[in-house]
Amino acid sequence: MSSTGKSLTAGQKKERKKITTKTLVTMKQRGEIISALTAYDFLMSRYLDEAGIDVMLVGDSLGNVIQGNATTLTVTLDEIIYHAKIVRKAVKTALLVVDLPFMSYHVDLQESVRNCGRVMKETGADAVKLEGGERIAETVKHLVKVGIPVMGHLGLTPQSINIFGTYVTRGTDPKEARQIQKDAKILQDAGCFGIVLEKIPASLAKKVTASLKIPTIGIGAGINCDGQILVTHDMLGMTEMFHPRFVRKYLNIAEQAKNAFRNYIKDVKSKKFPSRSESY
Ligand code: KIV
Repeated sequence: MSSTGKSLTAGQKKERKKITTKTLVTMKQRGEIISALTAYDFLMSRYLDEAGIDVMLVGDSLGNVIQGNATTLTVTLDEIIYHAKIVRKAVKTALLVVDLPFMSYHVDLQESVRNCGRVMKETGADAVKLEGGERIAETVKHLVKVGIPVMGHLGLTPQSINIFGTYVTRGTDPKEARQIQKDAKILQDAGCFGIVLEKIPASLAKKVTASLKIPTIGIGAGINCDGQILVTHDMLGMTEMFHPRFVRKYLNIAEQAKNAFRNYIKDVKSKKFPSRSESY
């Protein structure tokens, strides 16, 4: 998508090369901002890829926006694999990252590697994303060693919601801010190719971003990250009950869809649909 909101032309589409984890690091070095959004199904994946998104994430946020659950904790490995396989079919150039669900990389190293391996083999993903800092460093090292690229996720990590208790901004107190900075360096040293920073003060995200060679991708983390990500259903205005400050709604699909449904119901009931030209 260009800055004018128009789709890329055929020529521009042809020029786009497959985005790799290395591309993202190069983009950071060149000061090119990374665009990222979530996808859970084939058509959305196609629209995102054709619009020119750099990173597509099959997020465990599907627990919220697809399954209607209060948290992401209930999402299973089989469910994320199911969605990632579907999304993969339409991905041509975006880097496809798949979230590892809660408890799929926590028990021990062997199980973590096996589960991440399943995601990579069964879905054709380019990389996995894991939540946590120091705690997952050994796992990250092992995954990278066996050839699985890892994206980290710090700040508000929704899989830890039962420890946090609320979805408030993380890293507002100096101790937690220091820990986030430390964790970011640990993840970089462990081999992560990028880190999502969720809902932390913009000033902290700026410091973390400046301290790393790998890119940061912010969600509710201000303008100074190397890229931005949102949940697609939020930015399309599909989740009408969810209004955090960091979501900019580019459409109001909830309202538009309900109007379309009302018009359809009216047309069906009044026998205005189908018309003669819509019949055989
Ligand atoms: O699950 C998800 O969609 C995410 C993004 C919000 C970063 O982790």
